[in-house]
Amino acid sequence: MSELIFDTVSVRYGGRRGLTAVDGVSLTVPAGKVVGLVGESGSGKSTLARAAVGLSPISAGRVLLGGVDVRKLPRRRPLQMVFQDPYSSLNPRMTIGESITEAIPRGVLPGRSARKEEAARLLELVNLDPDRAEHLPGQMSGGQRQRVALARALAGRPEALIADEITSALDVSVQGAVLNLVRSVQRQLDLSMLFISHNLAVIRYLSDIVAVMYLGRIVEAGPAEQVLTDPQHPYTRDLLDAAPSAHKSLFDLEPSATADAEPPDPHYPPAGCRYHPRCPVGPLVRTDREICLRADPVEDAASRRHAAACHFSESEGHEPAISRGASA
Ligand SMILES: Nc1ncnc2c1ncn2[C@@H]1O[C@H](COP(=O)(O)OP(=O)(O)OP(=O)(O)O)[C@@H](O)[C@H]1O
Ligand code: SF4
Ligand SMILES: [Mg+2]
Repeated sequence: MSELIFDTVSVRYGGRRGLTAVDGVSLTVPAGKVVGLVGESGSGKSTLARAAVGLSPISAGRVLLGGVDVRKLPRRRPLQMVFQDPYSSLNPRMTIGESITEAIPRGVLPGRSARKEEAARLLELVNLDPDRAEHLPGQMSGGQRQRVALARALAGRPEALIADEITSALDVSVQGAVLNLVRSVQRQLDLSMLFISHNLAVIRYLSDIVAVMYLGRIVEAGPAEQVLTDPQHPYTRDLLDAAPSAHKSLFDLEPSATADAEPPDPHYPPAGCRYHPRCPVGPLVRTDREICLRADPVEDAASRRHAAACHFSESEGHEPAISRGASA
């Protein structure tokens, strides 16, 4: 399986009055690993994901799969995406068997019966009865449709998969089963996966690496256990503090909220640190931290633990400048 690399990717919507929804993001999904991407609504998660499959316009940078620019891949087959709403990838007038067969590259299986057999195999892989092949999407539940969307994405025999809030629209009672399925398929096929969710419990359950996005930037990324137990960026801390506690059911969670203030208008990102108008340890409460108003911490983030974009986060190999619950 192949590594998926976002190399200083920017995505700009609209003209002069538009906005930069993704701003110079670099992120690596190592081969066969799951990177969980978390961040509040509007932070640019979907825009980043969609850039990889050609659905949002890359204005700078590139996305590489196995070292090859995704824009040069054959119809982007090795990289597939599953969306929140399975209807968006299923034609309501096609049977699910037809939908899956259509997604099998002709070069892989040219014969009609071989393609039908492959569709049945894929349905079994996502724990659906192959007899379901004759059904229309409208005859299935939301969870079953999402399984079909996954089977369809897998029909291209991808090396990497992007899953964007794939359980958010599902009934809570089936979210767990779909997540278990995704995890088992990812391991079975050794897929590299970018898994997007608002829900930190879901991210924790699936991810090897966690990346936190805020206002078009990755503000912290590192091994899941480390980021979730020893967050370095105040925004990550806010997300964790706002998330329901561990004793609550894993799948019975609402999307997290952060800090009190509304997110800034992405058309006019704040100068300096983009988080400064909301930061609970920033210049709003610490007047000595005026650096946050003028210098962008993204610039030297690589030298900090978890590449945290905060002037006061711990440097790689040094004692923390900010610790949880401390006066910082
Ligand atoms: N097609 C578009 N044209 C213009 N602006 C867009 C478009 N799609 C998204 N945006 C804007 O880009 C920013 C990032 O949106 P995006 O959908 O990527 O966020 P997100 O993190 O996926 O949010 P959510 O968690 O709600 O899905 C937002 O300000 C959004 O309004
Ligand atoms: S750089 Fe300053 S404002 Fe930004 S997160 Fe760190 S402390 Fe907060
Ligand atoms: Mg989104």
